[in-house]
Amino acid sequence: MAAGKGTRMKSKLPKVLHLLAGRALLQHVVDTAAALMARQVVLITGHGATQVEDALSINTPVTAGFSLNFVRQEPQLGTGHAVQQALPVLRDDGIVVVLSGDVPLTQADTLRDLIAACGGSKLALLTIDFADPTGYGRIERRGEVVQAIVEHKDASPEQRAIREVYSGIMAVPAAHLKPWLARLDNQNVQGEYYLTDIVKFAVADGVPVVAHKIMDAVQVAGVNSPVQLAELERAFQTRQALRFMEQGVRLADPARFDVRGELTCGQDVSIDVNCVFEGTVSLGDDVKIGANCVIANASISAGAVIHPFTHIQGGQPGTKDAVEVGAGALIGPFARLRPGAKLGAEVHIGNFVEVKNSTLAPGAKANHLAYLGDATVGERVNYGAGSITANFDGAFKHRTVIEADVHVGSNCVLVAPIRLGAGGTVGGGSTLTKDTPPGALSVARGKQVSIANWKRPAK
Ligand code: UD1
Ligand code: CA
Repeated sequence: MAAGKGTRMKSKLPKVLHLLAGRALLQHVVDTAAALMARQVVLITGHGATQVEDALSINTPVTAGFSLNFVRQEPQLGTGHAVQQALPVLRDDGIVVVLSGDVPLTQADTLRDLIAACGGSKLALLTIDFADPTGYGRIERRGEVVQAIVEHKDASPEQRAIREVYSGIMAVPAAHLKPWLARLDNQNVQGEYYLTDIVKFAVADGVPVVAHKIMDAVQVAGVNSPVQLAELERAFQTRQALRFMEQGVRLADPARFDVRGELTCGQDVSIDVNCVFEGTVSLGDDVKIGANCVIANASISAGAVIHPFTHIQGGQPGTKDAVEVGAGALIGPFARLRPGAKLGAEVHIGNFVEVKNSTLAPGAKANHLAYLGDATVGERVNYGAGSITANFDGAFKHRTVIEADVHVGSNCVLVAPIRLGAGGTVGGGSTLTKDTPPGALSVARGKQVSIANWKRPAK
């Protein structure tokens, strides 16, 4: 169910598209369904339907292995009415698991247990005890046997005293669900079609109703406001941080560590405070990440050190745009690696150096204040402070090739396309527009002139 408006988010964006750990809330739910090997996922949309459908169609890989259907609920007349919209596309066999697009952190294992409790024949409800159950549907039992879910607004004072609540998640055989939904009415305080009324029908039909109670409130927590979104983000990140530490990763502070994607770490990785990892990032053995780094779509090999405040922004993982940092490389502080930066072993990239779509062979160094764009840099090249590749002529990008062992002095402009021959030296302050021969000293700047006894103008 993803038709609700999410008024309390006070946002133009439909609620279920707000991001948690870099993924839309609804995407978390769909990904969990994928983990359950669902054969079909039906998304019930309403508010912002087109936007929600587009986002999910783009971000759900075909490899997810299920068919994705969208149905629209317009207007929104309650959760029972919502699920009614899905009936035409639901198959008659199998188990239907009802989930909410704004409850992102339910674990697949929990749903597996719930499905097992349903067993293809019962109505299984995911429940939890709350110290303050205000607003939730209460689980009413006679003895141990579940009799009904009573919505808060319809509940008597005695019923409101019940602490066990319905989480909003159930597993139900499709063959039962269909006729039950046909029997719903809206004769209640809210004038809504309550999905929860099917519990009464199950009891009347002699179908067993089982409650699968869990303890972990995070798994059933919904997002209604920015505060709740931030709380779940922290809960998710804390869970991830613990998992990494259990693998041996040293986090300076698990509360200041954010992974918005897939991070894999080798042995003896250490990560200082306030680092953010996005997309697909892998860190080899002994990699050290300094404080305040943002790293997206990059593969960082063993022993590399990323000094503080480094920004690595690789492009699509698995393409030439992903960033690669070689073994033992030293990056930063304050370095910027952009899409297509491929750095070999022992490369040094220092402060305020930007690298884009460039390959640096092992041992190459650019230690201060420089730009390398669309460049191929050979082994052991030393690229001086303040030097840049002028790679863009206003219409086209051109390549710069710097062969092995070249020394480029400070403040040079290499006007591409250009090739600097192996072992050559470029004098500081040169603007080079032509290829340079191997082994030569190339200087392209005004000759120094000194005029003796120069008198400055006086008033
Ligand atoms: C529902 C349950 C309640 C349970 C609670 C858990 C019913 C009648 N009540 O409460 O027992 O304790 O969830 O959070 O089911 N939605 C639609 N279309 C609608 C109405 C809702 O798509 O017409 C979606 C919402 O966007 C949301 C989900 O269904 O994702 C739950 O709706 P919400 O209004 O939050 O739940 P309640 O009805 O208050
Ligand atoms: Ca409601």
